[in-house]
Amino acid sequence: MIFESHAHYDDKQFDLDRDELLCSMKENGIGRIINVGSDFASCRRIVELVRQYDFIYGAVGIHPSDIEDLNETVYEWLKVTANDSKIVAIGEIGLDYYWEKELTAQRRQRDWFARQMELAREVSLPVIIHSRDAAEDTLKLMQKIHAEEIPGVVHCFSYSPELAEEYVKMGYYIGVGGVVTFKNARKLKETVKRIPLERLLLETDCPYLSPEPNRGKRNSSLNLPYVAREIAALKGITEQEAADASWENAMRLFTKVK
Ligand code: NI
Repeated sequence: MIFESHAHYDDKQFDLDRDELLCSMKENGIGRIINVGSDFASCRRIVELVRQYDFIYGAVGIHPSDIEDLNETVYEWLKVTANDSKIVAIGEIGLDYYWEKELTAQRRQRDWFARQMELAREVSLPVIIHSRDAAEDTLKLMQKIHAEEIPGVVHCFSYSPELAEEYVKMGYYIGVGGVVTFKNARKLKETVKRIPLERLLLETDCPYLSPEPNRGKRNSSLNLPYVAREIAALKGITEQEAADASWENAMRLFTKVK
């Protein structure tokens, strides 16, 4: 069975066939799914979604591109909701300077990233981190708040193998998805080769980032075998071994998942 560690089935791209698709997961070998929050509306939808499917768990948190949704009331809601038996992580949280070039807005991202990290510490949940075009500030902020005391994953990892090793040293997992199957993804392939198998998590970030041979189409967890196959090839192991290791890693990180 494959553990999908990062999906967005609350996205409207799944409105027409969500139930049919999710009901086909188990028979296609997808045993667990973590559906990750983006904005506040998405977090509320996730609380409903995890009630409907036993194998789906949720993460709540506000994505750096959606922090205009955050205020003290929403922060309190996240804290209370984190106690739900099926909410297993805080995320996705982090920094995204690719979509935000304005300096004061980037500073607000850092403030809310730090606060949501503290929230995870307070409720004893792991974090799911999104970091794009913000390598230096993400690492600096995490070092400053002693992120090594808070378990988590850096999802859709896009930085250098050296930086991946820094995160692994802090105890973090590295989320790898469809991008690893792209021919030009040299850095990510090198990262997968270099970091220990015990630190890799399989993810899609669906509906985005479909792997080859489905690149450009809507993504779903059903494409994860392509990702597992590429990781296996890079590591010199079988696809089954790659999937099994990722399952064990996810179960170790997301301790509330049964
Ligand atoms: Ni995501």
